[in-house]
Amino acid sequence: MEQVYKGALRAPDHAWLRPWKFIEIRGDSRKKLADSFIKASRSSGEEMTEELEEKLNKAPFRAPMVIVLAADVKEHPKVPKIEQIISLGASAQNILLGLHDIGYSAIWRTGKMAFNKHITDALELPTNYEVIGYLYVGIPSGHIKSLPELDLSDYLTRWG
Ligand SMILES: Cc1cc2nc3c(=O)[nH]c(=O)nc-3n(C[C@H](O)[C@H](O)[C@H](O)COP(=O)(O)O)c2cc1C
Repeated sequence: MEQVYKGALRAPDHAWLRPWKFIEIRGDSRKKLADSFIKASRSSGEEMTEELEEKLNKAPFRAPMVIVLAADVKEHPKVPKIEQIISLGASAQNILLGLHDIGYSAIWRTGKMAFNKHITDALELPTNYEVIGYLYVGIPSGHIKSLPELDLSDYLTRWG
């Protein structure tokens, strides 16, 4: 994982602000993440039904390891927040590629537990941090889905 994270730290980064923060959560610590999800949901004003509590309690246990992606957003005259979040997104993609390279699989997830102050607080992060998502990491199992071939010309225009 050290090599994987080193890849993450090589993401493009305007003005070298290094906005990347990762929290790696494994094993029983996933319960602490579930508790943070429940806390964030409660403070957002959502009604905590039994079903919702069960769903949030189970969520971190969908994979053996979860990596929280948090942006340490800094004030900078030339680098707005969006650029710092994009840089963290690029670092997350490097993590996905690094994991894939060593035989693991991962899924990037967001939903209600991203992009709000309730989850920042529940994870006890500084108030300038923005949680942009989660990488759920594990060993691939079952059927690997086949994807439709995309037509590059739908996405690419060449000039000259
Ligand atoms: C920013 C971002 C947020 C995402 N959030 C979710 C999510 O909450 N739930 C989900 O099922 N997939 C989500 N995805 C999509 C998956 O990460 C993944 O790309 C998709 O399941 C397709 O898998 P593949 O990329 O391995 O083909 C998100 C992707 C990105 C880039």
